[in-house]
Amino acid sequence: MKVVLCDTNETVCRLWRQLLQGLSPYSARIHHGELCEAMKELESGQKERDTDNGAPGTKAVGNCSIAIVSPGNSFGFLGGGFDLGIRDYFGGVPFEGWLREALHCSYSPVGSVKAIDVTSYSRNLRNNVKYVVYTPTVVAPCRSLFEASRAVRTGYEPVFNATWSALTGTPKDVETLVMPGMCTGYVGVPASVSCKSMAFALKLYLLENDVSEELKNVLIMCFLGYPFKPFWAKECMKECELLGIEWEDLDKFDVKVDDIDRLLPFNRPCPTV
Ligand code: ADP
Ligand code: NA
Ligand code: NA
Repeated sequence: MKVVLCDTNETVCRLWRQLLQGLSPYSARIHHGELCEAMKELESGQKERDTDNGAPGTKAVGNCSIAIVSPGNSFGFLGGGFDLGIRDYFGGVPFEGWLREALHCSYSPVGSVKAIDVTSYSRNLRNNVKYVVYTPTVVAPCRSLFEASRAVRTGYEPVFNATWSALTGTPKDVETLVMPGMCTGYVGVPASVSCKSMAFALKLYLLENDVSEELKNVLIMCFLGYPFKPFWAKECMKECELLGIEWEDLDKFDVKVDDIDRLLPFNRPCPTV
């Protein structure tokens, strides 16, 4: 799966660019601007590709494979932030009602994720989106949730969790996932905090099978500040050695000051394009 990071916020995009340096554009791309523009580009790219294949228009909308992350609230209202961009993209207010029906108008806790199949809606609009990956980042946007004195629990952790939920909760038939800065709007997490967590989640996710699930778990515990060794699989030590990760000081990792590359493989196999 390829990820398109899309945000109107210039600082967010600049930090993504810095932190994701070296990633292949086939795995992650950054779009500084409005969601609707990013979608136009994506869709025209897809049309060209279909035409290149010599079969223009044969790709049924039902087989399309774009998904958009909604950094929503727990009730499915789409009246602000990136969600408003999603609502506009789907033609306005009626989409909000449709989505809320699809969620049975019920409460979805922060941290949960639901991939809503929007094919029936997309078909009428002739766009190519298959899912909205609904990932609430706040119960309701009453106030900012970030506290500088508790940056890990109120910033790094919720952003990592929302990003990881969105990435892992996206169905396997998705080719391109469009995602904004998570918690950088109404939730009020500073761009520097959010982008670091997003970059770590994304890099870890894109390693796929190059790193074992058990080692990913160890690295996540360290990133989030829960280095609980009884949960660490023995085999991970050897794997770290092979990958060029320093096992000895993993537990001392401090997300507030340390570089995320300390938790990522140095001897990474070349990405296959
Ligand atoms: P959260 O509630 O998680 O903070 P928001 O939707 O308020 O989510 O903001 C998430 C990010 O979306 C912010 O960084 C903001 O700059 C960006 N954003 C808001 N509207 C748009 C849009 N129409 N196109 C692209 N990015 C947007
Ligand atoms: Na939100
Ligand atoms: Na939003």
